[in-house]
Amino acid sequence: MTSSIDLAVIGGSGLYQFPGLENPVRQSVDTPFGKASGDVVIGDFAGRRIAFLARHGESHTVAPHRVNYRANLWALHHLGARRVIGVNAVGGIRDDMGPRVIVVPEQIIDYTHGRYTSFCDVEGAEVKHIDFSEPYTASLRTALLAAAKRAGVSVIDGGCYGATQGPRLETRAEIARMKRDGCDLVGMTGMPEAALARELELDYACLALVANFAAGCGDEAEISIEEIFAHLAAATAEVPPILAELLKA
Ligand code: HPA
Repeated sequence: MTSSIDLAVIGGSGLYQFPGLENPVRQSVDTPFGKASGDVVIGDFAGRRIAFLARHGESHTVAPHRVNYRANLWALHHLGARRVIGVNAVGGIRDDMGPRVIVVPEQIIDYTHGRYTSFCDVEGAEVKHIDFSEPYTASLRTALLAAAKRAGVSVIDGGCYGATQGPRLETRAEIARMKRDGCDLVGMTGMPEAALARELELDYACLALVANFAAGCGDEAEISIEEIFAHLAAATAEVPPILAELLKA
């Protein structure tokens, strides 16, 4: 199926419906890879067509390691999306990436395991090697950064996203190792989503919303889950204005 979808948005923790989406129509897509996290909701936003999918399901019932990333990306592509913004909750490792900061990362280190990482991980499928030197689409990152600027939302350009398995948060030692590796942010859902988007030749960029300082990085001895969701709610409110500007461009 093809339709003119100007942008697909995959919402992470704290973003289960797209605010301000008009004339929403739900689409349940059968995929060769099984069920997506839920229906794709297509509607009008900022005068354009967007497709929204809640990565963890609309009631947050799908854990990061159980998300069917292949079905999600396949469904969006099937519905006609060619540009995807992944909105991801993250922990900040770098000092300037504290709660409520928004980051458009440019690199990834993948620490996940046991996830289906490729569409060719199927009997008889042709093996496809993708170039992943730059895991996010440069032109979409640039457009996203410019949109944030026009929207008056301050975002950090760059940084390395370390993708962990979850659903638990990390130990201080794990974060210390990730910091030594060069990670600036830690999240549980950035991979394999970005790689699968590249396999489908989708433009893909990440809007990372910092919910907390990662283990051992802030002043707190422990990370409060309530605070994570409060910070996420505040950062999530900045997402629609950024995407409205992106769609206007
Ligand atoms: N670690 C991993 N994922 C996260 C975190 C974290 O500290 N905060 C929000 N998502």
